[in-house]
Amino acid sequence: MIAETAGATRLILPDEAATAALGARLAAALRPGDLVALSGGLGAGKSVLARAIVRALLGEPDAIVPSPSYTLVNVYAARAGEVWHADLYRLGGPPDALELGLVEALSHAIVLVEWPERLGADLPARHLEIALELLPGSNGAEPREARATPRGPGWDRALAAIGGDA
Ligand SMILES: Nc1ncnc2c1ncn2[C@@H]1O[C@H](COP(=O)(O)OP(=O)(O)OP(=O)(O)O)[C@@H](O)[C@H]1O
Ligand SMILES: [Mg+2]
Repeated sequence: MIAETAGATRLILPDEAATAALGARLAAALRPGDLVALSGGLGAGKSVLARAIVRALLGEPDAIVPSPSYTLVNVYAARAGEVWHADLYRLGGPPDALELGLVEALSHAIVLVEWPERLGADLPARHLEIALELLPGSNGAEPREARATPRGPGWDRALAAIGGDA
């Protein structure tokens, strides 16, 4: 289910497989220099989505992609170049975030950031925001809503991929 309101593309993800499929579609549209900011509360599905993006970029559907909760950043060598997967939940604040080198990495890498709010004003202005939210489910289902908002230019391909048009 897809809807577009006020610049945001909204998508219902009925189950984990749908979230993973979204990641695979989005991966195909990402290029070095792209930053995807994955926001949403604990357990919203940010890591599920990031893992699917990394796996698709690696071309390895079963690749082990651990959550970088403790390492803060994990770096992968994909065909398209480096992929940085960051989880900033445990980070003190923007000065520490800068030391991780995420901004410099954008010169050559695709960067995926969970808890991008931790970057504060250091979050690069050009990024693709994807906000995940739990929706009420029934019969054991745990649907999520993804809301994708382009920040800055150059996200048309990615938004088309999210919507399934690419
Ligand atoms: N529709 C869905 N999409 C994504 N994950 C789902 C869905 N339904 C159930 N899940 C489950 O929800 C959990 C999401 O966990 P995940 O680690 O991706 O969250 P997170 O947003 O990264 O949280 P954290 O901030 O703690 O890192 C997983 O256990 C997954 O199996
Ligand atoms: Mg996570």
